[in-house]
Amino acid sequence: MITKKLFDAVIAQYAQNITGRHGLAHWARVLENGRRLAAVNGAEIRVVELFALFHDACRITESRDPGHGQRGADLAASMRGRYFDLPDRDFERLYDACVRHTDGETEADLTVRTCWDSDRLDLGRVDIMPVPDKLCTDAAKDPAMLDWAIRRSVENVEPLLIRDEWGAYGYFKN
Ligand SMILES: [Fe+2]
Ligand SMILES: [Fe+2]
Repeated sequence: MITKKLFDAVIAQYAQNITGRHGLAHWARVLENGRRLAAVNGAEIRVVELFALFHDACRITESRDPGHGQRGADLAASMRGRYFDLPDRDFERLYDACVRHTDGETEADLTVRTCWDSDRLDLGRVDIMPVPDKLCTDAAKDPAMLDWAIRRSVENVEPLLIRDEWGAYGYFKN
């Protein structure tokens, strides 16, 4: 679970527009994608949720930004123990998922692959339609899951968890 204290700390250092294409609506859809996938395949939900928060949190541009996965992982490392706790094995998965999420890889631990798919299922927001060959979990390749996630990405759905779980009341006033 992402606490408000953790969320606020991550947002305080976020350099991009929170309503941008890599901003809060994307993070929240990645989180909801991840919850759906983890409910099916048993991925570690705490890692999946934290990935949604950290993976794009250190972008320095909305365009191509090859180092942002590593920076997101390092931000998570700097906040661990102060803003959230995670056992070593799970933290290693979170770190790995953030570092390598930009590379289109498909080989990793199930929880790491679930993180990547939760992100890739939201590519419709930038007019890239995710296809099963580029996904890495059976849960994400399910046609019903794909349809659901693609529709939400294309429509840029703004999940209410941004307000109800993260407490970002100002987001919906933009
Ligand atoms: Fe990213
Ligand atoms: Fe992303």
